[in-house]
Amino acid sequence: MRRSASMTFTALSAALGASLALAAVSGLHWEHIPAKDHARTNPLAGKPEATTAGAVVYRDHCLQCHKANASGDGHNRPTLRSNRIRNASDGDLEWFLRQGDLRHGMPSWSSLPQAQRWQVITYLRSIQ
Ligand code: HEC
Repeated sequence: MRRSASMTFTALSAALGASLALAAVSGLHWEHIPAKDHARTNPLAGKPEATTAGAVVYRDHCLQCHKANASGDGHNRPTLRSNRIRNASDGDLEWFLRQGDLRHGMPSWSSLPQAQRWQVITYLRSIQ
C-alpha cells in the first residue's frame, strides 16, 4: 500500500515535470523577452524606403502564411494587424522573428540579414 502510493507519487511528479519541461520549450511568449531586446529600437523606423523593402521581404517570406494585408489565415496563422503587434516594441518583434516559434509553426528568421528583419517590421508598422 505504502509502496504503491509512493509509486503513484513518483509517476505524478514525473508527469508534472514533463509538462513543465514542455511548457518551457513552447514558452516563447512575449513576457520572456530579455529586457535588452525589448528596449531595442528600429534604426529604419518610419523610413519610406524601408517600408518598400519590407513589403518585398513580406511578400517573399511571410505572405504564404500570414496572407495578403497580413490578415492571417483565419486559423492558426495569426493576423499581424492586431493589438498584440501594435503593443509590442520593435525590439520584441525583432526578437520574436529571430526566435520563431517552431512548435506552433512559426519559422525562425535568424538567417535573414538583420536589416531585412527591421525592414519587415517597418512594413508591419505601416499597415497597422
Ligand atoms: C510557415 C508559416 C509562416 C511563415 C512563413 C511566417 N509565419 Fe509568422 N507565424 C506563423 C504561425 C503559425 C504563428 C503563430 C505562432 C504561435 O502561435 O506562437 C506566427 C506568428 C507570428 C508573429 C506573432 C504574432 C502574434 O500575435 O503572436 C509574428 C510577429 C510573425 N509571425 C511574423 C512573421 C513574419 C514577419 C514573417 C516573415 C518574415 C512570418 N511571420 C512568416 C507562421 C508563419
